[in-house]
Amino acid sequence: MNLEQVRQAYGSVAQRYIELFGTSAQVHADDLAFIGRHLSGRAGPVLDLGCGPGHLTDHLRASGVEATGIDIVPEFIAHAWAAHPGGRYRLGSMAELDDADHSVTGILAWGSLIHLPPPDLDAVLVEFRRVVAPGGRLVTALFVGEEVVAFDHKVLTAYRWPLDEFSRRLVRAGFTEVERLQRPGEGDRRPHAAVAAAPA
Ligand SMILES: C[S@@+](CC[C@H](N)C(=O)[O-])C[C@H]1O[C@@H](n2cnc3c(N)ncnc32)[C@H](O)[C@@H]1O
Repeated sequence: MNLEQVRQAYGSVAQRYIELFGTSAQVHADDLAFIGRHLSGRAGPVLDLGCGPGHLTDHLRASGVEATGIDIVPEFIAHAWAAHPGGRYRLGSMAELDDADHSVTGILAWGSLIHLPPPDLDAVLVEFRRVVAPGGRLVTALFVGEEVVAFDHKVLTAYRWPLDEFSRRLVRAGFTEVERLQRPGEGDRRPHAAVAAAPA
């Protein structure tokens, strides 16, 4: 993955992205419930990786979670600091975390793995597995399709995954799937899935 490409692509549309997607009121109720089921009430640090505007980090914090949002786009982190005073946000890449081994109890990667070229996915999942403590949870959202295929996402090329293939990648990285949620495409909404996984 070319981080600079991601930074520039999201940086150039950050304001528009924030308007369209930057509050948890804009997130589907089933998705919020899914995230809550797996991450709310969790003791210990939780990382929201690729947090974008930071609304889901704040949503977790409001439910008592010690959440930190991390993104590579400075415009998003600046917005998150301003919109959610007291929240923890920092610039950084999910592909190379500063955090110690087994030091976090949860990871949310909501839509942030979608731009990873398929050969790069495993290394990022292994990095997630490195920092998650036993009994922790990974929660992620992705676009689904019949095969692994690139498509023209509005911001930057993204990839669809067959859910079973994505789940196999999780297993390869040392996770076990514990729950999946799927929503079919409708109008201009693409088929979507959320997956929760635990360290194997
Ligand atoms: C589709 S947006 C999702 C943002 C947010 N999670 C949400 O639900 O609205 C993808 C996000 O992942 C971030 N991202 C992509 N690659 C990243 C990386 N290597 N490290 C940190 N953030 C990354 C992008 O900057 C962008 O904010």
